Amino acid sequence: MFKDTPDRNDINNKFIKHDSSMLNQVYGTNDVTPYWIADMDFPIASPISDAMQQLVSRESYSYEFDSKTLFESISTWNKDRHDLDLNPDHFVQVPGVLSAIAMLIRDFTNEGEGVLIQTPVYHQFRRLIESAGRKAVNNPLNIENDRYVIDFEGFENKLKSGDVHMVLLCNPHNPVGRVWTKMELQRLVAIAKKYEILIISDEVHADIIFEGSSFTSMASLDYDNSLTIIGSPAKNFGLNSISNGYIYSDNQRLREKIKATSASMSLDHGNAFTMYATIAAYQQGKPWFDAFLSYTQQTRHWIVAFMASELPQVKTFVPEGTNQIWFDFTGLGLTSDRLKSLLTEQAKMALTPGTWFGESDENYYRMNFAAPLAQIQHSFELLKRSINNSK
Ligand SMILES: Cc1ncc(COP(=O)(O)O)c(C=O)c1O
Repeated sequence: MFKDTPDRNDINNKFIKHDSSMLNQVYGTNDVTPYWIADMDFPIASPISDAMQQLVSRESYSYEFDSKTLFESISTWNKDRHDLDLNPDHFVQVPGVLSAIAMLIRDFTNEGEGVLIQTPVYHQFRRLIESAGRKAVNNPLNIENDRYVIDFEGFENKLKSGDVHMVLLCNPHNPVGRVWTKMELQRLVAIAKKYEILIISDEVHADIIFEGSSFTSMASLDYDNSLTIIGSPAKNFGLNSISNGYIYSDNQRLREKIKATSASMSLDHGNAFTMYATIAAYQQGKPWFDAFLSYTQQTRHWIVAFMASELPQVKTFVPEGTNQIWFDFTGLGLTSDRLKSLLTEQAKMALTPGTWFGESDENYYRMNFAAPLAQIQHSFELLKRSINNSK
Protein backbone atom coordinates (compact mmCIF):
# COMPACT_ATOMS: atom_id res chain seq x y z
CA MET A 1 0.00 0.00 0.00
CA PHE A 2 0.95 3.66 -0.35
CA LYS A 3 3.59 4.87 2.15
CA ASP A 4 4.68 8.49 2.54
CA THR A 5 8.03 7.69 4.13
CA PRO A 6 10.80 7.56 1.58
CA ASP A 7 13.38 4.90 2.27
CA ARG A 8 16.58 6.86 1.78
CA ASN A 9 19.69 4.87 1.05
CA ASP A 10 22.94 5.45 -0.78
CA ILE A 11 21.56 4.85 -4.22
CA ASN A 12 18.93 7.59 -3.76
CA ASN A 13 21.73 10.12 -3.55
CA LYS A 14 22.20 9.76 -7.28
CA PHE A 15 18.71 11.12 -7.97
CA ILE A 16 19.00 14.37 -9.92
CA LYS A 17 16.32 15.95 -7.73
CA HIS A 18 18.33 15.30 -4.53
CA ASP A 19 21.86 15.38 -5.92
CA SER A 20 24.03 17.82 -3.92
CA SER A 21 26.17 18.95 -6.82
CA MET A 22 23.08 19.59 -8.97
CA LEU A 23 21.46 21.59 -6.16
CA ASN A 24 24.67 23.58 -5.69
CA GLN A 25 24.83 24.27 -9.39
CA VAL A 26 21.21 25.39 -9.72
CA TYR A 27 20.54 26.99 -6.31
CA GLY A 28 24.04 27.89 -5.11
CA THR A 29 23.53 25.67 -2.04
CA ASN A 30 22.61 22.09 -1.26
CA ASP A 31 21.02 23.08 2.04
CA VAL A 32 17.56 23.16 0.46
CA THR A 33 14.59 20.81 0.35
CA PRO A 34 14.10 19.86 -3.28
CA TYR A 35 10.72 20.68 -4.77
CA TRP A 36 11.94 21.29 -8.31
CA ILE A 37 12.03 18.19 -10.57
CA ALA A 38 8.63 16.55 -11.18
CA ASP A 39 9.57 13.31 -9.42
CA MET A 40 7.70 11.92 -6.41
CA ASP A 41 9.44 11.19 -3.09
CA PHE A 42 7.44 8.06 -2.23
CA PRO A 43 8.23 4.35 -2.52
CA ILE A 44 6.54 2.86 -5.60
CA ALA A 45 3.59 0.44 -5.60
CA SER A 46 4.57 -3.05 -4.42
CA PRO A 47 3.11 -4.93 -7.47
CA ILE A 48 5.63 -3.01 -9.59
CA SER A 49 8.55 -3.88 -7.30
CA ASP A 50 7.37 -7.53 -7.22
CA ALA A 51 7.25 -7.70 -11.02
CA MET A 52 10.75 -6.29 -11.30
CA GLN A 53 12.08 -8.60 -8.60
CA GLN A 54 10.68 -11.57 -10.50
CA LEU A 55 12.49 -10.38 -13.56
CA VAL A 56 15.75 -10.14 -11.63
CA SER A 57 15.36 -13.61 -10.17
CA ARG A 58 14.71 -15.04 -13.65
CA GLU A 59 18.38 -14.35 -14.43
CA SER A 60 17.74 -14.04 -18.13
CA TYR A 61 17.31 -10.97 -20.30
CA SER A 62 16.66 -12.30 -23.79
CA TYR A 63 14.90 -10.02 -26.27
CA GLU A 64 11.22 -9.86 -25.45
CA PHE A 65 8.32 -7.54 -26.07
CA ASP A 66 4.70 -8.42 -25.32
CA SER A 67 3.02 -5.50 -27.03
CA LYS A 68 -0.40 -7.15 -26.88
CA THR A 69 -0.53 -7.32 -23.04
CA LEU A 70 1.17 -3.94 -22.73
CA PHE A 71 -1.15 -1.98 -25.00
CA GLU A 72 -4.24 -3.80 -23.70
CA SER A 73 -3.32 -2.90 -20.13
CA ILE A 74 -2.84 0.77 -21.08
CA SER A 75 -6.22 0.75 -22.86
CA THR A 76 -8.04 -0.90 -19.97
CA TRP A 77 -6.54 1.55 -17.46
CA ASN A 78 -7.66 4.52 -19.56
CA LYS A 79 -11.15 3.08 -20.06
CA ASP A 80 -11.58 2.60 -16.29
CA ARG A 81 -10.06 5.92 -15.34
CA HIS A 82 -11.19 8.32 -18.04
CA ASP A 83 -13.84 6.36 -19.97
CA LEU A 84 -11.44 6.67 -22.88
CA ASP A 85 -11.71 4.11 -25.70
CA LEU A 86 -8.27 3.30 -27.10
CA ASN A 87 -7.72 0.60 -29.70
CA PRO A 88 -4.72 -1.48 -28.50
CA ASP A 89 -3.59 -1.77 -32.13
CA HIS A 90 -3.23 1.99 -32.49
CA PHE A 91 -0.18 2.56 -30.26
CA VAL A 92 3.43 3.17 -31.18
CA GLN A 93 5.97 2.78 -28.38
CA VAL A 94 9.01 5.05 -28.21
CA PRO A 95 11.68 5.44 -25.49
CA GLY A 96 10.04 8.36 -23.67
CA VAL A 97 7.61 11.25 -23.85
CA LEU A 98 10.30 13.73 -24.86
CA SER A 99 11.73 11.43 -27.50
CA ALA A 100 8.18 11.05 -28.83
CA ILE A 101 7.90 14.83 -29.15
CA ALA A 102 11.35 15.11 -30.74
CA MET A 103 10.46 12.44 -33.26
CA LEU A 104 7.06 13.92 -34.11
CA ILE A 105 8.54 17.38 -34.65
CA ARG A 106 11.01 15.92 -37.15
CA ASP A 107 8.45 13.68 -38.85
CA PHE A 108 5.73 16.25 -39.36
CA THR A 109 7.43 19.64 -39.77
CA ASN A 110 10.34 20.92 -41.84
CA GLU A 111 13.34 22.96 -40.70
CA GLY A 112 12.47 26.58 -40.04
CA GLU A 113 8.73 25.88 -39.62
CA GLY A 114 6.82 26.98 -36.56
CA VAL A 115 5.53 24.85 -33.67
CA LEU A 116 3.05 26.58 -31.36
CA ILE A 117 3.47 26.42 -27.59
CA GLN A 118 1.58 28.24 -24.82
CA THR A 119 3.81 29.63 -22.07
CA PRO A 120 4.34 29.24 -19.23
CA VAL A 121 4.89 25.63 -20.30
CA TYR A 122 7.21 22.70 -19.60
CA HIS A 123 10.61 24.08 -20.59
CA GLN A 124 11.72 21.11 -22.68
CA PHE A 125 9.10 21.91 -25.33
CA ARG A 126 11.01 24.96 -26.54
CA ARG A 127 14.34 23.15 -26.32
CA LEU A 128 13.10 20.25 -28.44
CA ILE A 129 11.59 22.56 -31.06
CA GLU A 130 14.68 24.73 -31.35
CA SER A 131 17.19 21.91 -31.27
CA ALA A 132 15.36 20.39 -34.25
CA GLY A 133 15.91 23.67 -36.12
CA ARG A 134 12.21 24.62 -35.91
CA LYS A 135 10.79 27.86 -34.56
CA ALA A 136 8.81 28.05 -31.31
CA VAL A 137 5.76 30.26 -31.93
CA ASN A 138 4.48 31.40 -28.57
CA ASN A 139 0.83 31.99 -27.78
CA PRO A 140 1.06 32.84 -24.05
CA LEU A 141 -1.76 31.75 -21.76
CA ASN A 142 -3.87 34.51 -20.21
CA ILE A 143 -4.87 34.82 -16.56
CA GLU A 144 -8.57 35.35 -15.91
CA ASN A 145 -9.98 35.29 -12.37
CA ASP A 146 -6.73 33.80 -11.00
CA ARG A 147 -6.88 30.96 -13.50
CA TYR A 148 -4.90 30.39 -16.67
CA VAL A 149 -6.90 30.23 -19.90
CA ILE A 150 -6.07 29.78 -23.57
CA ASP A 151 -5.89 32.94 -25.67
CA PHE A 152 -8.11 31.60 -28.45
CA GLU A 153 -7.97 34.80 -30.46
CA GLY A 154 -4.16 34.75 -30.44
CA PHE A 155 -4.24 31.03 -31.21
CA GLU A 156 -6.39 31.54 -34.29
CA ASN A 157 -4.35 34.53 -35.50
CA LYS A 158 -1.13 32.55 -35.25
CA LEU A 159 -2.58 29.60 -37.16
CA LYS A 160 -4.09 31.93 -39.75
CA SER A 161 -0.71 33.65 -40.32
CA GLY A 162 0.67 30.45 -41.86
CA ASP A 163 3.64 30.47 -39.43
CA VAL A 164 2.46 27.45 -37.46
CA HIS A 165 2.80 23.87 -38.75
CA MET A 166 2.16 22.00 -35.54
CA VAL A 167 0.55 22.68 -32.15
CA LEU A 168 2.22 21.21 -29.09
CA LEU A 169 -0.37 20.98 -26.34
CA CYS A 170 0.29 20.16 -22.70
CA ASN A 171 -2.77 18.60 -21.02
CA PRO A 172 -2.85 18.73 -18.02
CA HIS A 173 -0.72 21.83 -18.34
CA ASN A 174 2.62 21.80 -16.52
CA PRO A 175 3.44 24.14 -14.66
CA VAL A 176 0.10 25.96 -14.14
CA GLY A 177 -1.97 22.86 -13.29
CA ARG A 178 -4.87 23.46 -15.66
CA VAL A 179 -6.80 20.42 -16.87
CA TRP A 180 -8.24 21.66 -20.14
CA THR A 181 -12.00 21.15 -20.29
CA LYS A 182 -13.75 19.35 -23.10
CA MET A 183 -15.19 22.67 -24.27
CA GLU A 184 -11.80 24.37 -24.36
CA LEU A 185 -10.30 21.46 -26.26
CA GLN A 186 -13.18 21.33 -28.72
CA ARG A 187 -12.71 25.03 -29.43
CA LEU A 188 -8.97 24.53 -29.95
CA VAL A 189 -9.58 21.56 -32.26
CA ALA A 190 -12.17 23.50 -34.29
CA ILE A 191 -9.54 26.18 -35.02
CA ALA A 192 -6.82 23.62 -35.83
CA LYS A 193 -9.27 21.84 -38.16
CA LYS A 194 -10.04 25.08 -39.99
CA TYR A 195 -6.34 25.63 -40.79
CA GLU A 196 -5.53 21.89 -41.07
CA ILE A 197 -2.84 21.97 -38.40
CA LEU A 198 -1.59 18.84 -36.65
CA ILE A 199 -1.99 18.75 -32.85
CA ILE A 200 0.42 16.82 -30.63
CA SER A 201 -0.99 16.39 -27.15
CA ASP A 202 1.41 15.56 -24.29
CA GLU A 203 -0.76 13.87 -21.64
CA VAL A 204 1.93 12.50 -19.33
CA HIS A 205 0.18 13.98 -16.24
CA ALA A 206 -3.28 12.71 -17.29
CA ASP A 207 -4.05 10.58 -14.24
CA ILE A 208 -3.25 13.16 -11.58
CA ILE A 209 -6.60 14.95 -11.68
CA PHE A 210 -8.17 16.44 -8.55
CA GLU A 211 -11.79 16.56 -7.38
CA GLY A 212 -13.89 18.95 -9.41
CA SER A 213 -12.02 18.36 -12.69
CA SER A 214 -12.19 15.62 -15.24
CA PHE A 215 -9.68 14.76 -17.89
CA THR A 216 -10.43 14.86 -21.63
CA SER A 217 -7.89 13.27 -23.93
CA MET A 218 -7.18 14.59 -27.41
CA ALA A 219 -7.68 10.97 -28.50
CA SER A 220 -11.39 11.23 -27.62
CA LEU A 221 -12.07 14.31 -29.73
CA ASP A 222 -12.41 12.75 -33.16
CA TYR A 223 -9.70 14.92 -34.67
CA ASP A 224 -8.03 12.84 -37.33
CA ASN A 225 -5.06 15.19 -37.60
CA SER A 226 -3.78 14.59 -34.08
CA LEU A 227 -1.35 12.43 -32.16
CA THR A 228 -1.66 11.84 -28.45
CA ILE A 229 1.17 10.90 -26.15
CA ILE A 230 -0.86 8.89 -23.70
CA GLY A 231 -0.02 9.27 -20.02
CA SER A 232 2.72 6.82 -19.15
CA PRO A 233 3.20 5.50 -15.59
CA ALA A 234 6.12 7.94 -15.22
CA LYS A 235 4.35 10.62 -13.20
CA ASN A 236 1.50 8.73 -11.53
CA PHE A 237 3.53 5.68 -10.46
CA GLY A 238 6.89 7.37 -9.87
CA LEU A 239 8.69 5.59 -12.73
CA ASN A 240 10.36 8.56 -14.38
CA SER A 241 13.70 6.90 -15.02
CA ILE A 242 12.23 3.68 -16.44
CA SER A 243 9.19 4.81 -18.41
CA ASN A 244 8.49 4.68 -22.11
CA GLY A 245 6.34 6.97 -24.24
CA TYR A 246 3.20 5.68 -25.93
CA ILE A 247 2.01 7.56 -28.98
CA TYR A 248 -1.61 6.98 -29.92
CA SER A 249 -3.54 7.87 -33.05
CA ASP A 250 -6.53 6.45 -34.89
CA ASN A 251 -5.02 7.87 -38.07
CA GLN A 252 -3.24 5.00 -39.79
CA ARG A 253 -1.23 7.26 -42.11
CA LEU A 254 0.28 9.16 -39.16
CA ARG A 255 0.94 5.93 -37.27
CA GLU A 256 2.69 4.27 -40.18
CA LYS A 257 4.99 7.24 -40.58
CA ILE A 258 6.05 7.20 -36.93
CA LYS A 259 6.45 3.41 -36.93
CA ALA A 260 8.73 3.67 -39.94
CA THR A 261 10.86 6.37 -38.28
CA SER A 262 11.02 4.50 -35.01
CA ALA A 263 11.99 1.24 -36.76
CA SER A 264 14.56 3.00 -38.94
CA MET A 265 16.36 4.15 -35.78
CA SER A 266 15.68 0.92 -33.87
CA LEU A 267 13.81 2.83 -31.22
CA ASP A 268 11.01 0.29 -31.13
CA HIS A 269 12.83 -2.22 -28.92
CA GLY A 270 11.32 -2.10 -25.46
CA ASN A 271 13.15 -2.60 -22.20
CA ALA A 272 11.83 -5.63 -20.28
CA PHE A 273 11.89 -3.82 -16.90
CA THR A 274 9.85 -0.98 -18.31
CA MET A 275 7.38 -3.34 -19.92
CA TYR A 276 6.80 -5.45 -16.80
CA ALA A 277 6.67 -2.37 -14.59
CA THR A 278 4.09 -0.73 -16.86
CA ILE A 279 1.91 -3.83 -17.06
CA ALA A 280 2.06 -4.32 -13.27
CA ALA A 281 1.23 -0.64 -12.68
CA TYR A 282 -1.78 -0.64 -14.96
CA GLN A 283 -3.08 -4.10 -14.07
CA GLN A 284 -2.49 -4.14 -10.31
CA GLY A 285 -1.62 -0.60 -9.27
CA LYS A 286 -5.10 0.91 -8.85
CA PRO A 287 -5.37 0.66 -5.02
CA TRP A 288 -1.91 2.20 -4.59
CA PHE A 289 -2.61 4.93 -7.12
CA ASP A 290 -5.97 5.84 -5.57
CA ALA A 291 -4.28 6.16 -2.17
CA PHE A 292 -1.47 8.26 -3.68
CA LEU A 293 -3.93 10.55 -5.44
CA SER A 294 -5.98 11.02 -2.30
CA TYR A 295 -2.78 11.85 -0.32
CA THR A 296 -1.52 14.34 -2.83
CA GLN A 297 -4.96 15.93 -3.11
CA GLN A 298 -4.95 16.47 0.66
CA THR A 299 -1.49 18.01 0.36
CA ARG A 300 -2.76 20.36 -2.33
CA HIS A 301 -5.68 21.27 -0.08
CA TRP A 302 -3.36 21.92 2.88
CA ILE A 303 -1.03 24.18 0.85
CA VAL A 304 -3.90 26.18 -0.67
CA ALA A 305 -5.56 26.67 2.73
CA PHE A 306 -2.25 27.61 4.41
CA MET A 307 -1.39 30.16 1.72
CA ALA A 308 -4.87 31.70 1.84
CA SER A 309 -4.85 32.15 5.62
CA GLU A 310 -1.14 32.75 6.38
CA LEU A 311 0.35 34.26 3.23
CA PRO A 312 -2.49 35.83 1.25
CA GLN A 313 -0.05 38.33 -0.32
CA VAL A 314 1.33 35.42 -2.41
CA LYS A 315 -0.98 34.40 -5.24
CA THR A 316 -1.51 30.63 -5.37
CA PHE A 317 -2.89 29.08 -8.53
CA VAL A 318 -4.94 26.09 -7.40
CA PRO A 319 -3.93 23.10 -9.53
CA GLU A 320 -6.77 21.13 -11.11
CA GLY A 321 -4.30 18.40 -11.96
CA THR A 322 -0.55 17.54 -11.83
CA ASN A 323 1.53 17.57 -8.66
CA GLN A 324 2.80 21.04 -9.51
CA ILE A 325 1.63 24.24 -7.85
CA TRP A 326 2.34 27.70 -9.27
CA PHE A 327 2.91 30.80 -7.15
CA ASP A 328 3.16 34.51 -7.92
CA PHE A 329 5.24 36.28 -5.24
CA THR A 330 4.76 39.80 -6.71
CA GLY A 331 2.72 40.85 -3.66
CA LEU A 332 5.82 40.63 -1.43
CA GLY A 333 7.31 43.61 -3.26
CA LEU A 334 10.83 42.13 -3.29
CA THR A 335 13.47 42.41 -6.00
CA SER A 336 14.04 39.17 -7.87
CA ASP A 337 17.43 38.63 -6.18
CA ARG A 338 15.95 39.22 -2.74
CA LEU A 339 13.07 36.84 -3.49
CA LYS A 340 15.47 34.19 -4.71
CA SER A 341 17.59 34.39 -1.56
CA LEU A 342 14.50 34.41 0.67
CA LEU A 343 13.25 31.20 -0.97
CA THR A 344 16.54 29.31 -1.08
CA GLU A 345 18.60 30.64 1.83
CA GLN A 346 15.88 31.38 4.38
CA ALA A 347 12.93 29.14 3.52
CA LYS A 348 15.39 26.55 2.17
CA MET A 349 13.03 25.56 -0.62
CA ALA A 350 14.34 24.58 -4.04
CA LEU A 351 11.45 25.75 -6.23
CA THR A 352 11.66 25.95 -10.02
CA PRO A 353 11.94 29.53 -11.31
CA GLY A 354 9.02 30.42 -13.56
CA THR A 355 11.47 31.85 -16.09
CA TRP A 356 12.47 28.28 -16.98
CA PHE A 357 8.96 27.85 -18.38
CA GLY A 358 9.08 30.99 -20.50
CA GLU A 359 7.49 33.27 -17.89
CA SER A 360 9.17 36.67 -18.19
CA ASP A 361 8.15 37.87 -14.70
CA GLU A 362 10.71 36.66 -12.15
CA ASN A 363 8.12 36.57 -9.35
CA TYR A 364 6.71 33.22 -10.47
CA TYR A 365 7.86 29.86 -9.11
CA ARG A 366 6.68 26.25 -9.43
CA MET A 367 6.67 23.71 -6.64
CA ASN A 368 6.37 19.94 -7.01
CA PHE A 369 4.36 18.81 -3.99
CA ALA A 370 4.62 15.01 -4.43
CA ALA A 371 6.51 14.84 -1.14
CA PRO A 372 5.65 13.88 2.47
CA LEU A 373 3.12 16.30 3.96
CA ALA A 374 5.04 16.73 7.24
CA GLN A 375 8.09 17.89 5.28
CA ILE A 376 5.95 20.27 3.21
CA GLN A 377 4.31 21.69 6.35
CA HIS A 378 7.74 22.34 7.83
CA SER A 379 8.87 24.11 4.65
CA PHE A 380 5.81 26.35 4.58
CA GLU A 381 6.21 27.32 8.25
CA LEU A 382 9.78 28.33 7.40
CA LEU A 383 8.55 30.23 4.35
CA LYS A 384 6.04 32.11 6.48
CA ARG A 385 8.68 33.00 9.04
CA SER A 386 11.10 34.14 6.32
CA ILE A 387 8.47 36.33 4.68
CA ASN A 388 7.36 37.85 7.99
CA ASN A 389 11.01 38.58 8.91
CA SER A 390 11.61 40.28 5.56
CA LYS A 391 9.14 43.06 6.32
C1 LIG B 1 4.66 17.79 -19.69
C2 LIG B 1 5.82 16.85 -19.60
N1 LIG B 1 6.18 16.13 -20.67
C3 LIG B 1 7.23 15.26 -20.63
C4 LIG B 1 7.95 15.07 -19.46
C5 LIG B 1 9.13 14.12 -19.46
O1 LIG B 1 8.79 12.92 -20.06
P1 LIG B 1 9.88 11.75 -20.26
O2 LIG B 1 10.79 11.80 -19.09
O3 LIG B 1 9.07 10.48 -20.31
O4 LIG B 1 10.57 11.98 -21.56
C6 LIG B 1 7.61 15.80 -18.31
C7 LIG B 1 8.39 15.66 -17.07
O5 LIG B 1 8.30 16.42 -16.15
C8 LIG B 1 6.51 16.71 -18.39
O6 LIG B 1 6.15 17.42 -17.31
